[in-house]
Amino acid sequence: MIAMWPYPRLIAHRGGGALAPENTLAALRTGLSAGYRAVEFDVMLAADQVPVLMHDENFGRTIAGAGQVAATPSAALVGMDAGSWFGPAFSGERIALYRDALAYCRSQGIWMNVEIKPASGWEQQTGQVTARLTADLLGDGAAGAVLFSSFSMAALRAAQQAAPGIPRGLLVQDLPPDWREQLASVRALSLHIDHARLTRDMAQLVRSAGYAVFCYTVNSVPRARELSGWGVDAICTDRIDLLRPDFFEA
Ligand code: G3P
Ligand code: MG
Repeated sequence: MIAMWPYPRLIAHRGGGALAPENTLAALRTGLSAGYRAVEFDVMLAADQVPVLMHDENFGRTIAGAGQVAATPSAALVGMDAGSWFGPAFSGERIALYRDALAYCRSQGIWMNVEIKPASGWEQQTGQVTARLTADLLGDGAAGAVLFSSFSMAALRAAQQAAPGIPRGLLVQDLPPDWREQLASVRALSLHIDHARLTRDMAQLVRSAGYAVFCYTVNSVPRARELSGWGVDAICTDRIDLLRPDFFEA
């Protein structure tokens, strides 16, 4: 059984790749203006369990100062600058609520790989709340518009329970020895793996077991061509300037 991948094959990483501050609405706009109609972004819970777009648990890199996302209410997070670290053109760009990103992507016809990125200790809640909100806001359209992925099996399990109809992918760095059991236990559609750890044989093995293979984060054209030649179903990239959205069709 060979995997089926009915979604876009080239995806802008963290919204706008290297061209905009990650995981912001500005990043989503940047991806779209580069012609991308597929994005990956990271979702984490605020202290009041409201999902926001965020990669790091702690402030300090994209958000100035000290503090933790999971200890800060969403009302405070949405006032925080998530753009200045990237450059003055984006200063004042705020932390985005997940529901606003969902609404924007739906309104623009952008497909989403929503990476459930729980702060430590919040795996189950993050999967559950993110999945519920997605199902509530998108209704019947959710399954065609969103694919959840996570490094956390607990988060994926919770997402599966809360919204079984929205597809799931397991994120890994390396192929774990029990990859078949893990993928089967959450009825995953896809395996998302660091492209640097993937071999042609691995790609064939996983695909022949019936799972799609998604590679992150592929930032060169020759490497993207090689992975495509291996049968890799989809890749995400920071280099939305180098890899054109029609790469797989061209
Ligand atoms: O989902 C692919 C990729 O985003 C996983 O790594 O750290 O960039 O979220 P990271
Ligand atoms: Mg991610």
